[in-house]
Amino acid sequence: MVADRLYKIYTPVVIHKMNKKLKLWELDRVSEEEFKSQDKLPVTVVLDSIRSLTNVGTFFRTCDAFNVDKIYLCGITAEPPHREIQKTALGATESMEWEHRESISELILELKSEGKVICSIEQTEKTTLLQEVDKLPNDHYVLVFGNEVNGVDQEIIDHSDHIIEIPQFGTKHSLNVSVCAGIVIWEFTKKWID
Ligand SMILES: C[S@@+](CC[C@H](N)C(=O)[O-])C[C@H]1O[C@@H](n2cnc3c(N)ncnc32)[C@H](O)[C@@H]1O
Repeated sequence: MVADRLYKIYTPVVIHKMNKKLKLWELDRVSEEEFKSQDKLPVTVVLDSIRSLTNVGTFFRTCDAFNVDKIYLCGITAEPPHREIQKTALGATESMEWEHRESISELILELKSEGKVICSIEQTEKTTLLQEVDKLPNDHYVLVFGNEVNGVDQEIIDHSDHIIEIPQFGTKHSLNVSVCAGIVIWEFTKKWID
C-alpha cells in the first residue's frame, strides 16, 4: 500500500526527468560556415513583393532551418540588413544565400530555362493539393510565394508548372504567407528525408 502511494507520487517526476528539454548548445547545430558549404535541399524560394518585413525575416529563418538552396527577393520585397527583418530572421540573413531581383518574370523564365520546376503557392481554379506533393518526382523546385494582399502575380501563375494549394477547413480565406511557407517547405523537405 505504501509502495503504491509512493509510485503515484513519484512516477510523474521520474517520467519528466527522462525527457529533459535541451539547452541551445545541446541542439548540435552546424556553424554558419558549415551551413554554407553543406549540400542544399533542391528547393529555391521566391518572394513576389512581400510587404511585411517580419514576414521576410520569418522566411529567412524557415529557409535556414530546412537547408533551402537560395532565396530570391523580388519587386518591393525589402532586403537585409534591416532591423525589422532581423527581429524574426535572428541571423539567418547571414547564413542563407539570397539575391534581389526587380523583375520576377525574368527570374522565373531564367530558372525555368535551367530546368527547375516552378511551383506557385496559391489558390487558383486548378491546383495540386499539398498532400499530393509526395507523388511529384524529386526535381529541383522553385516555390513562389505571393504578396499579402494580391497574391502571386497572374503572369507567374501562367508560367508555373504546378500551383500548390494548402487545403483549409476554417472561416478565413487564406493563411499568413510565412505560416504557409513553413507548412509548404516542410512538405517538400519530406520528399528528401523520408
Ligand atoms: C494572404 S495570401 C494572398 C491572398 C489571396 N491569395 C489573394 O490573392 O487574394 C498571401 C500568400 O500566401 C500564400 N497562401 C496563403 N494561404 C494559402 C493556401 N491556403 N494555399 C496556398 N497558398 C496560400 C500564397 O502564396 C499567397 O499568395
